[in-house]
Amino acid sequence: MKKVTIRTLQAMKDAGERIGMLTAYDATFARLFDQAGLDAILVGDSLGMVVQGHPHTLPVTLDDMLYHTRAVARSVHRAHLVADLPFGTYQVSREDAVRAAVRLVAEGGAEAVKLEGGRDFVPVIEAIVRASIPVMGHLGLTPQSFHKLGGYVVQGRGEEKARRLLEDALALEEAGCYAVVLESIPAELAAQVTGRLRIPTIGIGAGPSCSGQILVCYDLLGLDPSFTPRFVKRFAELGQATSAAVARYLAEVRAGAFPATAHSFADPEIRLVPPAKDGDE
Ligand code: KIV
Repeated sequence: MKKVTIRTLQAMKDAGERIGMLTAYDATFARLFDQAGLDAILVGDSLGMVVQGHPHTLPVTLDDMLYHTRAVARSVHRAHLVADLPFGTYQVSREDAVRAAVRLVAEGGAEAVKLEGGRDFVPVIEAIVRASIPVMGHLGLTPQSFHKLGGYVVQGRGEEKARRLLEDALALEEAGCYAVVLESIPAELAAQVTGRLRIPTIGIGAGPSCSGQILVCYDLLGLDPSFTPRFVKRFAELGQATSAAVARYLAEVRAGAFPATAHSFADPEIRLVPPAKDGDE
């Protein structure tokens, strides 16, 4: 097993190999994703929506991010592990930003942090990179700007907005970002940015020409069949599978069919503790 680092991701872009990345929020899914061979895992502040049930990511706290990052880090041994800096931790001062990034790495076990925004955040990015923490940028639809953007709306449309986004991407690379997420922008613009940047781009709703792709894992797994943004492909229907499994369980409990007698702990073959070995007290 060779650990994926920011150097691996750069080498993948240089070699034209696409990077596969997903979000994860807990140890069980993170272990499955790591074992499946994903290159990178993001503990995204999207957990505010899919785990905590908020309408957006704004209420997520640094303590929330630390809790989930620690859980994921315990299971991830191969993939590169990134954690989101949540809203409010890097918008006020560089000192706040460095302190929050240090906590995600030192206490959470993240190997890099991600933050949203363009040229305005160059001083913050430079300060975190100076503290030896790799920074992933995030441009286009930046969910922490939910109120400013007026909702989840495609970004970078039109010549002027596209030019500004490309300039922002170049500014992030210059500031020391090792990769940039491009969210919900036209595919042609994502292709242009990917072609101009030396560092990898990771797309979500940004077409096929990015250096890699990321999805929110709950979306890919179909855990909420009522929510399917245009760019999401459901690779499984775990929402339906979960509802069906729970309905079967409930029916068997009500019918007295589960647990079956053979599976009862009264069965001498089933032990709660392993049998004592020779020499055990
Ligand atoms: O929080 C998140 O899950 C993200 C990805 C969608 C890129 O930022």
